[in-house]
Amino acid sequence: MRFVLIAALGLTSAQLAFAADLPPKPVRLGLCAACHGETGMAQMPGAPNLAGQRLDYLRKALQEYRDGTRNVPLMRTAIGPLNDAELDQLARWYSAQTPQPQAAAHP
Ligand code: HEC
Repeated sequence: MRFVLIAALGLTSAQLAFAADLPPKPVRLGLCAACHGETGMAQMPGAPNLAGQRLDYLRKALQEYRDGTRNVPLMRTAIGPLNDAELDQLARWYSAQTPQPQAAAHP
C-alpha cells in the first residue's frame, strides 16, 4: 500500500512539472472553442485567432466586450455569464498557445 501511494505521488509531481508550461485548461473553454478553437485558431469566418496574443491585450479585449466599449453582441453574449477569474483563465490559456499554421485559403 505504501509503495502504491509513493508511486502515485511521484506520478503527480511529474505531471505537474509537465503541466507547468501551460496554464490549466479553463473549465469554460467550451464556450469559446466553437468559434475560436480550443487552441485559439479560429473555427469560423470572422472570428479572430487568439493563440499567442498578449495576455494584457486579451484581458482588456474581454473587459471591453463585457462593459460594452466594444459593442459586439456576439462576444457579449458569449462572455456574459463569466466572472473575472474565468475571463482571466481564458485570457491566460489563449495567450499561452502557440499559433498553428492554417491551411491556405483558396479563393
Ligand atoms: C459565436 C462565436 C464566438 C464565440 C462563442 C466566442 N467568440 Fe470571441 N469573437 C468572436 C468574433 C466574431 C470576434 C470579433 C469581434 C470584433 O469584431 O470585435 C471575437 C473576438 C474575440 C476577442 C478579441 C480578439 C482581438 O484580437 O481583438 C477575444 C479576446 C475573444 N473573442 C475571446 C473569446 C472568449 C474567451 C470566448 C469564450 C468565453 C469567446 N471569445 C467566444 C466570436 C466568438
